Amino acid sequence: MLCQRGSIAQGICDNVLFLIAGYDSEQLNKTVLPLILAHTPAGASSKQLTHYSQLMKLDRTFQQYDLGWLGNWRKYGQLRPPSYQLNNVKVPVALFYSNNDWLAPGEDVNVLSKNLPNVIGKFRVPLKRFNHLDFMWAIDVKRLLYDDVIKVLRKYNR
Ligand SMILES: *[C@@H]1O[C@H](CO)[C@@H](O)[C@H](O)[C@H]1NC(C)=O
Repeated sequence: MLCQRGSIAQGICDNVLFLIAGYDSEQLNKTVLPLILAHTPAGASSKQLTHYSQLMKLDRTFQQYDLGWLGNWRKYGQLRPPSYQLNNVKVPVALFYSNNDWLAPGEDVNVLSKNLPNVIGKFRVPLKRFNHLDFMWAIDVKRLLYDDVIKVLRKYNR
């Protein structure tokens, strides 16, 4: 109810979302906000969020879930969680990112791209305030992003 169009609280609805995903109001279609909020946040396990925060605490180490020494020993046969072997990712990878996605900042995308052996391109969305949610819902998402995604897919589709 609070997120209905025209409701005085609608601004709060936008902002709670933007708080976790990066701020940008210009690409959000406020008419569809109630619909978006009916499906957001989508389900995520608490373990997923814990893993995410474990990775945030580490300095750019991309590793499996930390179960503690004993749990790691049982599950992985070692005291620390093993790192993901990104050098085994042989498929061509195109990285699409933006400047205002707080869940995937450009510096992290750079590190990822250095560790993946077959990056065919890094594409930054040409809009400074394009955020995490805009990848799905931006008003101009086709022009800003999807047209390029399709181009890359066509090029590598055999
Ligand atoms: C916003 O969404 C509504 C409902 O889908 C649509 O009619 C309208 O054209 C959209 N506005 C923009 C600026 O895309």
